[in-house]
Amino acid sequence: MSYYKIMGFDKEPFSTNPDPDFLYLSREYDLALTNILIELRLKRGLSALLGDIGTGKTTLSRRLVKELCEREEFVFHTILNPTFENEKEFLSSLIQNFQIPFPQDLASQTVPGMRDAFEKFLLHKNLTDRRTVVLLIDEAQKLSYETLESLRILLNYETNEFKLIQIVLFGQLELYSKLLVISNFYDRIDFKFVLNPLGLEETKEMISFRLRHAGYKDARPLFDNDAVREIYYYAKGYPRGIIRLCHKCLRMLTMSRTATTVTKDMVTEVVQKESDVQWNPAIVQQKKSS
Ligand SMILES: Nc1ncnc2c1ncn2[C@@H]1O[C@H](COP(=O)(O)OP(=O)(O)OP(=O)(O)O)[C@@H](O)[C@H]1O
Ligand SMILES: [Mg+2]
Repeated sequence: MSYYKIMGFDKEPFSTNPDPDFLYLSREYDLALTNILIELRLKRGLSALLGDIGTGKTTLSRRLVKELCEREEFVFHTILNPTFENEKEFLSSLIQNFQIPFPQDLASQTVPGMRDAFEKFLLHKNLTDRRTVVLLIDEAQKLSYETLESLRILLNYETNEFKLIQIVLFGQLELYSKLLVISNFYDRIDFKFVLNPLGLEETKEMISFRLRHAGYKDARPLFDNDAVREIYYYAKGYPRGIIRLCHKCLRMLTMSRTATTVTKDMVTEVVQKESDVQWNPAIVQQKKSS
């Protein structure tokens, strides 16, 4: 039986899956989400959300998808791994994923033919159906310069008032330098945002939010204040690190016969075990040779 069931939770509180229901909307996440939604509503074209590894970009993108699903006006598609061989492969994927009826075999089509079909689709959706077409791209740091150029061309499709396609990029920090190189693409980003790691107070709130969301109802905190401070210190406020430590601490707590709260010492022990055993090849080597 999983530790969280033993502890009486309905769901696993510290799973590392990007579950949007477990997203704690600190001021910064809320600001990012609200502004992206405004950009989409106003059809301003291009938004970019950057953040270091494990800061919550994918989870925020899933939360955005949830918001879009609840609103009739949006037609959207998410690209999770934007590695395309060339523009033709990229446009084929758009045509297929937006289910654009295409009379001929896609493989035999030319790039201009595909661009035309996509532009017609955008015009129809925006002007006839009064919908907003959104393309979300996660892991956007993987976009090639060729695909970025192709996105730039799509952003040229516009009316006098608005862009016909709305693009939201979610990418690690290296995307920034990539975008800077293409200044005519960078210039088009209407909303830019960088997700920073959480502060100490936010770390505390996020832990308690996730516990409550998983079904924890007790008034007694499961992590004492010093434990939270220690988790924050080791994870440096990065959500993925915080979650991993919390998960391991709770597992340790389940195994303890006496403790009912995660303490600072438990966090230290978890961190030590993590660094000694799992991530130090020298130790594995030592054990093998002894
Ligand atoms: N604000 C938050 N509230 C609660 N959990 C969060 C928050 N931000 C991130 N997480 C959790 O942290 C973990 C990592 O988040 P996520 O995978 O979204 O990060 P990422 O920025 O996409 O990472 P990568 O750069 O590796 O793609 C997930 O389990 C996610 O649920
Ligand atoms: Mg991600």
